[in-house]
Amino acid sequence: MSNYKYSTLAVHAGQYPDPLTGAVNVPVYLSSTFELTGIGADRGWDYSRAGNPTRDRLEEALAALEGGSCAYVFASGMAAISALVAMLHTGDHVLCSHNVYAGTVRLFNQIVSHYGIEIEYVDTSDLKAVEAAIRPATKLIHVETPSNPTMVLSDIHAISELAHAHGAEVSVDNTFMSPVLQSPLALGADIVVHSTTKYLNGHSDGIGGAIIGSKPEHKDRFWLVQKAAGGILSPFECFLVLRGIKTMPLRVKQHEENGRAVAEYLATHTKVSRLAYPGLKSHPQYELALKQQKGFGSMLSFDLGSREAAGRFLGALKIFLNAESLGGVESLASHSATTTHAALTAGERAAAGITEGMIRLSIGIEDKEDLIADLEQALAAV
Ligand SMILES: Cc1ncc(COP(=O)(O)O)c(C=O)c1O
Repeated sequence: MSNYKYSTLAVHAGQYPDPLTGAVNVPVYLSSTFELTGIGADRGWDYSRAGNPTRDRLEEALAALEGGSCAYVFASGMAAISALVAMLHTGDHVLCSHNVYAGTVRLFNQIVSHYGIEIEYVDTSDLKAVEAAIRPATKLIHVETPSNPTMVLSDIHAISELAHAHGAEVSVDNTFMSPVLQSPLALGADIVVHSTTKYLNGHSDGIGGAIIGSKPEHKDRFWLVQKAAGGILSPFECFLVLRGIKTMPLRVKQHEENGRAVAEYLATHTKVSRLAYPGLKSHPQYELALKQQKGFGSMLSFDLGSREAAGRFLGALKIFLNAESLGGVESLASHSATTTHAALTAGERAAAGITEGMIRLSIGIEDKEDLIADLEQALAAV
């Protein structure tokens, strides 16, 4: 399988005909328990928290798509990030990109830190700052690139080299890029996490998360967390993600084409400032985007100057929906300060560069001319 090109993998990895019936789609095994064949003997499954045939197939597909050796899926992206840090110990130190998804900050600051795990935020786009922050107790560097919603990139390869020289692992939240456009493990990272809610599912009809590991110990570690803590993805949700994955390369191609067109349009608009899209030559890390990404994606953010202007813009949109989340076929616009980053304090938002006038767009797969016309009429209302 691993010799196949990407779109072939997306259709076929983990998604072979059902051995029992020949069904070309992975069946949804809605069974909590499985008949044993004897004492301590089974057909490969005994209880669905520990393993389920539908979930196995999704995990196989995800490991192939990220080039990992194992994958485990969870009930949400946050459950996957919880599982990522579940095996750390009191006294361990974690470095985390300073402008990650606010839900990650909420989890780290309000729950994980209570277990005596120290989380320190650092600007991971600044390699010197990363190196200076590494300590003997640093076990993990958790990177989100591009960052949400400021679209700042971190150099995965360079951070991985630094981390490995100090005995730490690197995890990358690859949600914004999707496995199609960025391969953190190939760049040297150890672990990838995803909110499958986004491009992997792709249709905004399910919540889920995944961890993809690269080492044999990841298999033991994350399988134990999945089984012991129990935050599993249901078989039906697994099926939805499996179905989404088949069209993901096609969808992401269209998302990206539209993303580039919208970014180029917004770059010319006088009411738009601080436009952040890694595919624009004006983006300070355009060269890094070319080097480590296979495309520029379809997420961007910009500033309309004030909360009131942002409100007028969102209220005037006709095709873009005023909703959080991203990576679905429909285009979404959201006010970062009061949605995805509402969990941060005003000070934390300011430090992360999230202003009251900031709008984040997730560009869908509609016709780009319609999307640009919608933005134009909404900007006229600002
Ligand atoms: C980059 C990123 N990581 C993780 C998450 C959390 O995923 P979920 O909402 O599936 O728990 C999100 C949610 O928006 C996200 O944007």
